Amino acid sequence: MERRKVTVQTIMGMKGKQRIAMITAYDYPMARLVDQAGIDGILVGDSMGMAVLGFENTLKVTLRDMLIHVAAVARAKPKALLIADMPFMTYETGVRDALRNASSSSGGRRAVKPEGGQEIFDVVNNLVKFGIPVMGHIGLNPQRVLSLGGFRMIGKTEEQAKKLIEDAKALQEAGAFAIVIEMVPASVAKAVTESVKIPTICIGAGPHCDGQILVIHDILGLTERPPSFAKKYVDLASIIRDAVTKYVSEVRGGEFPSTEYYKDIKS
Ligand code: KIV
Repeated sequence: MERRKVTVQTIMGMKGKQRIAMITAYDYPMARLVDQAGIDGILVGDSMGMAVLGFENTLKVTLRDMLIHVAAVARAKPKALLIADMPFMTYETGVRDALRNASSSSGGRRAVKPEGGQEIFDVVNNLVKFGIPVMGHIGLNPQRVLSLGGFRMIGKTEEQAKKLIEDAKALQEAGAFAIVIEMVPASVAKAVTESVKIPTICIGAGPHCDGQILVIHDILGLTERPPSFAKKYVDLASIIRDAVTKYVSEVRGGEFPSTEYYKDIKS
């Protein structure tokens, strides 16, 4: 039976009924594969800055980068809900910029994910009001890595924990359809999840959220220094290295191409 398209409403309706599995993808082949695997949501995350562009954080990812990668992922025509990250400084400067940039970064047709809580209420509220679905992102906001002084856990103090709950409620009120909670103590993520009616999606925040999201390169073993909360499901780095080592050796040794690989090529 063909899988039905996952919509924002599908994701919202899953809270309390079925756990939500999301993953990042940044290109066409990976989007095809994760969609075939039955993923609920594909995030074209600005983690692409680190995962595929070689930057040390996400700050240099541009709207143009996002446009190219969202378009590539969209060409896979996934049944999963497609969400585009809003890069650093494409929404913080006001509602007008956010509206213009959200419609670009999302290719005009996707959900978007800016980072932040109460401070981006107006941005989220206006995006939703004009028809662009928003997934929130609280806890560790990697776009604030410089002011935070590194990628660190948020919500360890009572004050921070309370703020996270207020942030989640504000995003819900602004119209967000779901909220990513990144690197927060599990008990705090649980409290946040129980304080809102929209689904929460954890990354490094324990098992009590309504769903999980991870960076695809981390679970496939392609990241040099993956975060400790990411499970490696396969060591693709070794598989790729072994395959290419064999190819290099066969080309150098004259074993490839053998006749079977050029019998159809007319001279
Ligand atoms: O950019 C990204 O991949 C993200 C996830 C880590 C949630 O924001």
